[in-house]
Amino acid sequence: MIQLNIEKVFPFVSKESILNYENKVKECAASLEKGSGKGSDYLGWLHLPSSINNIQFAEIEATAKVLRSKCEVVVVAGIGGSYLGAKAVIDALSNSFSWLQNTKNNPVIVYAGNNISEDYLAELTAFLSEKQFGIINISKSGTTTETALAFRLLKTQLENQVGKAEAQQRIVAITDKSKGALRQLATQEGYKTFVIPDNVGGRYSVLTPVGLLPIAVAGFDIRQLVKGAADMEKKGNNLPLTENPIALYAATRNELYKQGKKIELLVNYHPKLHFVSEWWKQLYGESEGKDNKGIFPASVDFTTDLHSMGQWIQEGERIIFETVISIATPNKKVLIPTDKENLDGLNFLAGKRVDEVNKMAELGTQLAHVDGGVPNIKIVLPELNEYYLGQLIYFFEKACGISGYLLGVNPFDQPGVEAYKKNMFALLEKPGYEEATKEIKAQL
Ligand code: PA5
Repeated sequence: MIQLNIEKVFPFVSKESILNYENKVKECAASLEKGSGKGSDYLGWLHLPSSINNIQFAEIEATAKVLRSKCEVVVVAGIGGSYLGAKAVIDALSNSFSWLQNTKNNPVIVYAGNNISEDYLAELTAFLSEKQFGIINISKSGTTTETALAFRLLKTQLENQVGKAEAQQRIVAITDKSKGALRQLATQEGYKTFVIPDNVGGRYSVLTPVGLLPIAVAGFDIRQLVKGAADMEKKGNNLPLTENPIALYAATRNELYKQGKKIELLVNYHPKLHFVSEWWKQLYGESEGKDNKGIFPASVDFTTDLHSMGQWIQEGERIIFETVISIATPNKKVLIPTDKENLDGLNFLAGKRVDEVNKMAELGTQLAHVDGGVPNIKIVLPELNEYYLGQLIYFFEKACGISGYLLGVNPFDQPGVEAYKKNMFALLEKPGYEEATKEIKAQL
């Protein structure tokens, strides 16, 4: 199992103050279980891993097989929770250079619908013009502008390149079971579809077809991913706090927040984990940042960012704590060679694995940052594979639900996200926004 280590927060908060959370955390976990807390219409993720059955796996795998057989490139169109989980897992498990390699039998996954950049879309469509491609279009509401706009362009391009009938075979829609423009369009065009359950919000949806289909298309083992999550799901709510890493993480970060640590930095030492942090930031940012409360979730990639953010972390305002994702054993092995001349002075490292240097950087950084006033939480994954990523996903999801309840917010809504949309639609003079258009124009 993945391991949580909170020893390096004790110079800043006492063990007792964290153990005091035992009952509160159990109450929060019980509220999730009973559906008696805020946002209880969105708890479908809680027992999702243990409830996915063979038929569901087989349907996703069969669809993935079709896309894998027809496409060199598959575009995953979606934003926020509708793409971050898939990208997090795919990037973490992929060869860092797979996008530059021969794509035969293993489509490259690219992303769209997560921005409105004209250059991005122009460059993407130019790239796809020479490729056999397919599209997985993901939107729970079915009305998200970024995603709908990208899909309109991509659908037209695909139909022009391969004809309407073949395009229909290469487009999959993942959306609400009945509501929204995407559901209507998919029905009319006869696309293969998957349903995002009503009771699973976007940022908790990676273990539904939203994440599982793109991950399977990329060639990864979704059964192992879900098994990892299901094993983490088994961590019972009645375990003592010290034996329940999910509850302990929720309690620790809330106690640190109470003591003025307003920013949590998620740290990794492997660049392929960058999007695990992006997924985590959305999960915690949208879940907790409301009612003028919430830890600000930020992230850094080390050792890269030690040469940019390292100064601030070491000596800036003392309002941060770090949560480090550490990989015990990397999947690949590289030994540092001896050099006769030793002009670079690195012979003291000769014969060692590169990871040994990385691990000493990790330990040295932990000691320096703790010395500098930054509490440190550590999460250790034995290896980077589907199984342990599944554990990590469920660990963070459930800890987020508990953490939100500890903070007293609804961790399952995101009312604040609507504000920019309303202004954008008013500025674009979308039908139905006439009043808002008048108001906003008066302000300009
Ligand atoms: O977590 C969330 O609910 C959001 O981030 C959504 O996933 C995001 O806004 C995309 O929404 P939709 O899937 O409806 O297009």
